[in-house]
Amino acid sequence: MIKVWDGFIRGFHWLLVIGIAVLYVSGDEGWLDLHFVTGYLLLALMVTRIIWGVIGSDTAKLSALCHHPRAILSALKSKAPHVGHNPAGSLMVLFFFVVIFVQLVSGLLTSDDILMDGPLVQYVSYDWVELAGNIHQTNIDILLLGIAIHIIAIALYRFKGVKLLRTLLTGKMAASEHSPKLKNGMWGYIIFAVLAVALIVFWGLESLGAIL
Ligand code: HEM
Ligand code: HEM
Repeated sequence: MIKVWDGFIRGFHWLLVIGIAVLYVSGDEGWLDLHFVTGYLLLALMVTRIIWGVIGSDTAKLSALCHHPRAILSALKSKAPHVGHNPAGSLMVLFFFVVIFVQLVSGLLTSDDILMDGPLVQYVSYDWVELAGNIHQTNIDILLLGIAIHIIAIALYRFKGVKLLRTLLTGKMAASEHSPKLKNGMWGYIIFAVLAVALIVFWGLESLGAIL
């Protein structure tokens, strides 16, 4: 057995899943104080993931996610287990990063036109706020479609005998290759905590007060 996922990547994934579920329900129900606070926490989490993609473990590196289209096509046909994300999985991960950041940034620029303005609304004209609101409403469907494809892909790999979920949960997989260089995930959580506190203090104290 070799260790392929550090503690931060494993925790990041499930915090991301919980965050998106809370944001979807709170956005849909109009519970905007909860929506804003969770949005700031998810922004801190995603920025930490990008920083971790530069300073973190080999398997978390952003450079490990970039592959030639030919490698992506051959990964789709292969069922060989891969140390880290395979080239097709890497494309999915990059897709998620882009779509989630579009959702976050458009949210920061969105207003409900009644009581709640995203924190960047004050800096732009109403046209931009309207555009951001439309993007915020449309992009969520692209994100949901991506999540559906992601879960179906993981299930298809399972049928082919590749247990990606078990590897993500335990961090370990059976392989004869050398272990990749992993960093202590605790540093990821420390960066996340610092960014989360800073964003809540800077933008989120009023909303946090309203939900407590
Ligand atoms: C990945 C992160 C996010 C997701 C998945 C998400 C999702 C949603 C959803 C599903 C809605 C309901 C849209 C509708 O009624 O059609 C919504 C509305 C809204 N979101 Fe987000 N959101 C995210 C981040 C944010 C952030 C960071 C902010 C600002 C701090 C924000 C501000 C708003 C506002 C102001 C509305 C109400 C829009 C209206 O009433 O027209 N969102 N969001
Ligand atoms: C809101 C829903 C979800 C989102 C946005 C999401 C997003 C992601 C992202 C961004 C990664 C890459 C992790 C990284 O390198 O940072 C990933 C990997 C992974 N996800 Fe999800 N995920 C979701 C739900 C799920 C669910 C429900 C499962 C369980 C079936 C799952 C199983 C996995 C597995 C096994 C991997 C590792 C794939 C590999 O080895 O290449 N995900 N997911």
